[in-house]
Amino acid sequence: MNKQPKHVAIIMDGNGRWANLQGKLRVKGHQQGARTVRDVVEEATNQGIEYLTLYAFSTDNWSRPKDEVNILMKLLVNSLKKEFSRLVRNNIRLQSIGNLDGLPTPVKDELIYVIKKTKNNTGMILTLALNYGGKEELTEAMKAIAFKVKNSIISPEKVDESTIIEHLYTRNLPAVDLLIRTSGEERISNFLLWHIAYAELYFVKTLWPDFKKEDLRKAIEDYTKRERRFGKTSQQLTS
Ligand code: FPP
Repeated sequence: MNKQPKHVAIIMDGNGRWANLQGKLRVKGHQQGARTVRDVVEEATNQGIEYLTLYAFSTDNWSRPKDEVNILMKLLVNSLKKEFSRLVRNNIRLQSIGNLDGLPTPVKDELIYVIKKTKNNTGMILTLALNYGGKEELTEAMKAIAFKVKNSIISPEKVDESTIIEHLYTRNLPAVDLLIRTSGEERISNFLLWHIAYAELYFVKTLWPDFKKEDLRKAIEDYTKRERRFGKTSQQLTS
């Protein structure tokens, strides 16, 4: 049996379909999705999860209709404002990964404010992936390393896994133990490519706005029953 996962990452999918099924506008799906975020963050804290990483906005999401992008950005600012005191109460530290400079100023400002105000909290680390793309993250890391090699700051022989990790947005996150994706889609969609190398994948048909605290508990329970071999045989692990 595995212990509780230390790092849980979630691809929150299905807001739009949830709204369609209810005959509502997509914005309603995102609003309900934001409520789910609140419940899941609370439950992850109760479950003793140390790191929770949420895919809130990918680099590909800019290609959605402009109105929807604006609504998502507004929802992010409002959620950060609304949930700030709850984060503080629960001793949660907020951080973000992704290209913050590409975000609208109000989102960036609010995010920086909450990150600063919660930086000394010692409980769960909640990471929002915003304007995030896994391939972009790796490309930026390669570029920075190439630059250092060119300027003789590091020698090519010395480049190893830790050099790459040090140059990622996710440098201070441990490897993902459990990756959850809602809505029945079974894809990674450019999320945390490096850190999911050995993650256990959990796909569930529930649409994100319908995902409940109990569903998170189920995913964690499923994880604890799996055997993680990291390339070894089952026998090696038990002997
Ligand atoms: C995927 O559903 C969801 C998103 C692209 C955005 C996630 C945003 C939230 C849950 C709202 C607020 C977030 C925070 C952190 C407060 P989709 O629109 O792709 O759904 P579909 O595939 O059914 O169309």
